[in-house]
Amino acid sequence: MRALTNRLVFIITSFTLCFILAACGSTASSPVSSAAEGDRDSMIESITESASESKSDNTDKQNDTASLVSEDEQSKPISDGTNILVVYFSRTGEQYGVGVIDEGNTAIVAKMIAEETGADTFEVIPADDHYPMTYDALTEIAKKELNENALPGYRGGVPDLTKYDTVFIGAPVWWGDWPMIMYTFFENEDLSGKTLIPFSTHAGSGLSGFDRKLSNACPDNTVLDGLAVAGTDAQNDREKVRNDVTSWLSGIGY
Ligand SMILES: Cc1cc2nc3c(=O)[nH]c(=O)nc-3n(C[C@H](O)[C@H](O)[C@H](O)COP(=O)(O)O)c2cc1C
Repeated sequence: MRALTNRLVFIITSFTLCFILAACGSTASSPVSSAAEGDRDSMIESITESASESKSDNTDKQNDTASLVSEDEQSKPISDGTNILVVYFSRTGEQYGVGVIDEGNTAIVAKMIAEETGADTFEVIPADDHYPMTYDALTEIAKKELNENALPGYRGGVPDLTKYDTVFIGAPVWWGDWPMIMYTFFENEDLSGKTLIPFSTHAGSGLSGFDRKLSNACPDNTVLDGLAVAGTDAQNDREKVRNDVTSWLSGIGY
C-alpha cells in the first residue's frame, strides 16, 4: 500500500513538473501573444525576430544570432534621439506626378522622421551633380547606373557614425531598387552593429524590397520593417504622411 502511495505521489509530481516546464517554454517562444498583451519589450523583440526571419535565405545562423535584441537593450528607455541618424537621398526638380519640386519627396519624409524621433539627419548628395533636373533624362541616367552596377560617389561630411545605434535610411525607388548611390553609401560606411530601418518614396511600387536588399547589402545588421510613402502624398498630403510616419514609428518601438 505504501509502495502504491509513493508511486502515485511520484506520478502526480512528474505531471505537475512537466506542465510547469511546458508553460514556461510556450511563453518564451510566443512573442506574438506577449505583444498582444501590450508588453512593449516583447513587442520590440517580436519585431526584431520577424525582421531577422525576413532576411534573405543566404543569411547564416550567426547573423541571426547577432541581430537578436539582448535583455539589456530591451530594458533601455525610449531614445531621446541622440543615438539616431536619418540618412536620405532625394531629388528636387521635375519628379513623377508632382511637377517641379523644390523639396524632394524623400527629404520631406526624412525630416518628419527626424522631427518625431529627435534624430540627426544626413543627406547623401552626389559628388558631382550629374543628375539632370528633368524626369525623363534622370530616368535614363539612373537606368544606366543600375545596368552598369555603378557606384556613384557622394559628397563628404558624413557624421561620426559611432555616435548612432539606429540609422533610418531612405530614398526614392528608382527602377524598382535603391538608387545606386545608396549602395555606394552601404559599401563605404561602417554601419556594423547598428539597427537599420529603410523607408522609400515611390510612384506606385511601394517599398520595392528595400528591406531585403538592405539586409543583403548589410547582412550582419538588424533591419526593421520599413515604410513606403507615395511621393504625391509627401508633396500634397503631409498630414496623412505625418500620421503614417508616427504610427509606423510607434509600431517599431520608436
Ligand atoms: C530614375 C527614376 C526611377 C523611378 N523608378 C520608379 C519605380 O521603379 N517605381 C516607382 O514607384 N517610382 C519610381 N520613380 C518615382 C520616384 O520613386 C518618386 O517620384 C519619388 O517619390 C521621388 O522622390 P524624391 O523626390 O525624393 O527624389 C522613379 C523616379 C525616377 C526619377
